[in-house]
Amino acid sequence: MRALILSILMVSFTAVLLKAEDDGLPAGKEKETFLKMCSNCHAMARVTKARFSKKFWSSVVDDMVSRGAEGTEEEAELVINYLSRHFGKPVNVNTATAKEIQEGLSLKAAESELLVKHRTDNGAFKVFEDLLKIPGLNAKLLDEQKKNIQF
Ligand code: HEC
Repeated sequence: MRALILSILMVSFTAVLLKAEDDGLPAGKEKETFLKMCSNCHAMARVTKARFSKKFWSSVVDDMVSRGAEGTEEEAELVINYLSRHFGKPVNVNTATAKEIQEGLSLKAAESELLVKHRTDNGAFKVFEDLLKIPGLNAKLLDEQKKNIQF
């Protein structure tokens, strides 16, 4: 009897684990909003196979709102942040030009110039933390783009 209860418990536990994993979408506080706003009309894969800059995701979300996606301005902003964080456009910070860095990672022009100057003066970046040492760069924004930064 005890063995039976134990195996029932294990099966249910595995089922819960699988359920939590099965949509394959990265976790995050914005995920629920993303599902709510973007899952009504088409498969999520249509969205998650894309890799865009924040600016471009912003225009995609605007476009979807005009097609009938429902959400407040704040919700749209959360969805743009989620997409930009997890499905952003990869940028190699050691080889990209200031303009490519500005556009790909949505940094300000002055920030991208600082990054490139630092690279020219001190050599290639090795890890994400190297970028945080550059004075004048927005750490919060860099963190949002962490997954998209390549070395
Ligand atoms: C009201 C229905 C609806 C909702 C909700 C919706 N979409 Fe769409 N989406 C569409 C339609 C219709 C298309 C196809 C447009 C086309 O083929 O030209 C599309 C296509 C797309 C594409 C593919 C564009 C391409 O060129 O292949 C992306 C990316 C996308 N949607 C993202 C989103 C995101 C992000 C959200 C949530 C903010 C969202 N969609 C919510 C209707 C919707």
